[in-house]
Amino acid sequence: MNRGLNRFAILVACATFFLIIAGALVTSHDAGLATPDWPLSNGQFFPKMVGNLFWEHGHRMVATTVGMLTIVLLIYILAKEKRSWVRKLGVFALLAVIAQGLLGGLTVKLMLPLAVSSAHATLAQLFFCTTVSLAVFTSRSWIEARRLEEEKEVLPLRYLCTAALVTIFMQLILGATLRHSATWDKQLPVELVMTHILGAVGVTLTLGGAGLAVLRRHKGEKFLTRPATIALSLLLVQIFLGVAAYSTRLKSPGDPQPLNPMVGITVAHVACGALVFVSTIVLTLRTYRVLPATSEHSTWAARPQESQVI
Ligand code: HEM
Ligand code: HEM
Repeated sequence: MNRGLNRFAILVACATFFLIIAGALVTSHDAGLATPDWPLSNGQFFPKMVGNLFWEHGHRMVATTVGMLTIVLLIYILAKEKRSWVRKLGVFALLAVIAQGLLGGLTVKLMLPLAVSSAHATLAQLFFCTTVSLAVFTSRSWIEARRLEEEKEVLPLRYLCTAALVTIFMQLILGATLRHSATWDKQLPVELVMTHILGAVGVTLTLGGAGLAVLRRHKGEKFLTRPATIALSLLLVQIFLGVAAYSTRLKSPGDPQPLNPMVGITVAHVACGALVFVSTIVLTLRTYRVLPATSEHSTWAARPQESQVI
């Protein structure tokens, strides 16, 4: 385990979270077209950061910083990491951030079409998922984790967690489509709001089921119960923020400009959505790390050769 590499991976993951907030601020301020050009802003490398250009160009600067941090992370991984799949994930992270930057440019060039803006929002979550996974895989707790037993004749936790993860990802895509189908001065499409609420019920059932099963079956195993508790708590906050986002959006079309309560609540909903997603990723990865694939193999813990797998 290389502590420096793990700390750096955590730094990149935190910077990515900050970048997601910076991006969401662009959308909520309706600042996406503050400048019509890219890669320059108003024909300049560094324009005056006034009005909506503060949010738009600021987001580009944060994105550039994260891009550079990702390059350094890849170099660090190639220098210190022996596991080939972690090295490949590092390469994937760099490709993802490059694709995301190009999509961002395309969003501006094509004047914020729904498909490109939603794809940009969704790939952002996938990139965040990648940087968090790199932080997980390089951590001491991952490398030193010991195998646990699964209860007999129950649905294995790794499948419950995967189901929750897939449902959350679909909910993120739905949320992005909903958010980019109407600017602050227009009403959100009712059918998309209804589908997103249905998605929230799906997430509550799958993540609630997986999280509670972890807490019940593995009491005291912090490696699993900690991410489960965090994911469940964030889910509650996210539902509350979703209802608040909807009610502030309902009122916003009459406002002279995007007002702070609407901006703050919708940005918090995007950010908390990202945190629900990554905390469920941490939980899911950890169930794959320490629990067997089927509940019949509950004696797995006793097999020494398999406990070597990292
Ligand atoms: C490289 C990493 C990048 C990441 C992780 C990222 C992430 C994000 C996120 C999370 C949003 C908010 C989506 C939402 O609220 O629904 C956003 C919005 C936006 N980003 Fe990026 N971004 C990146 C790079 C860029 C670049 C290089 C540009 C260049 C112009 C860009 C332009 C935009 C624009 C214009 C919006 C607003 C879109 C709209 O309102 O429809 N992004 N970004
Ligand atoms: C299971 C929990 C939920 C998750 C994970 C979730 C996730 C998200 C995400 C990630 C976005 C923005 C996507 C993006 O642009 O990147 C979003 C948008 C939105 N969500 Fe949710 N959501 C949840 C529950 C709810 C609930 C219960 C409501 C209540 C009606 C709601 C209402 C909204 C609204 C109104 C938007 C658009 C906000 C805007 O226009 O700025 N969400 N959701």
